Amino acid sequence: MVATLDIQVTKIGKSRINELDLNNLPFGKYMTDHMLEVDYEGGEWKEVKIRPYQDLSLSPALSALHYGQSIFEGIKAYKDQDGKAFIFRPMDNFRRFNISAERMRMQAIPEEIFIEGMRRLVEIDNNWIPQKEDHSLYIRPFMFSTDDTIGVKAADTYKFMIILSPTGPYYAAPMRIYVEEHYTRAAPGGIGFAKAAGNYGSSMMATAIAKEKGYDQVLWTDAFEHKYVQEIGTMNVFFIIGNKAITPDLEAGTILDGVTRSSAIEVLKEQGYTVEERPISIDEIIQAHKSGELKELFGTGTAATVSMIQELRYKDYVIKFDTNTWKAVPAVKKILTDIREGKRADTHGWMFPV
Ligand code: COI
Repeated sequence: MVATLDIQVTKIGKSRINELDLNNLPFGKYMTDHMLEVDYEGGEWKEVKIRPYQDLSLSPALSALHYGQSIFEGIKAYKDQDGKAFIFRPMDNFRRFNISAERMRMQAIPEEIFIEGMRRLVEIDNNWIPQKEDHSLYIRPFMFSTDDTIGVKAADTYKFMIILSPTGPYYAAPMRIYVEEHYTRAAPGGIGFAKAAGNYGSSMMATAIAKEKGYDQVLWTDAFEHKYVQEIGTMNVFFIIGNKAITPDLEAGTILDGVTRSSAIEVLKEQGYTVEERPISIDEIIQAHKSGELKELFGTGTAATVSMIQELRYKDYVIKFDTNTWKAVPAVKKILTDIREGKRADTHGWMFPV
């Protein structure tokens, strides 16, 4: 931890925390009292500021609005059983943030601004961390280009910010999914591995159509043949086939290197599963279902953590699960939740003290 960062802190006059209803926390709706902000100008990061959460005043020519140099991260903070605050694996998100920045030709953020700035912000707003099962404080670091020109080029100026949002469970029930065969999330050489805003913007159409059809999300497939699976909605995907847990590998650069994904891989191995990171096709999944070997299917992501899939549709072939009989997914979910909420020893060193 770097504690030398100089941060200009302006605190809110009166906290809004009394407006919070812990029993009704839709993802991303409520923001805490403060936000962190720092600008990159003239070849350097300027003063880091924490100030009351408020609107920004931006140029209509702001380059991020026109050309999409915009990236973000999702991280969560929890309180343990003694009320001490921790952040789950922030260094992994820091590393990924700068990988996204590099791909989008944006300015890298120094570690002390990302990590110590986040730690300080969470410390200031720590009473917003819900101490309730399956609840947490979602941390949203993001950066966008701020050149006020509509000239097409990598920008010279950027704004990095962190905002915080208390949140409850993301999906209320196990999800229903269909295999997307027309729209594409990512292709080799593209930005699928980056947490770029555009990846989410371009997924809205397929997601909206899925919802119109009564599904929660789509299972993305490869851009060439729509044959190999990539991700589910905004999550990484795992298939339990026999005693193996199979998840698409990161080789082609089309899949996000999820922090919950890598945590689930470690927990699954500890639970005795053989984990395979490799291309997996729809045909293989259907064959495994026909032979009775396809046991469980789930998504992982920071916002949703571990999400069970109760139905998968491919053309007219429908796979349905009774998720009440599952073993692997509930175990992974419980172990991860218990580590995060301080109910289980953090043997991996995943919990970063605030
Ligand atoms: C996350 O899981 O943190 C995500 O980025 C998914 C979504 C909320 C954008």
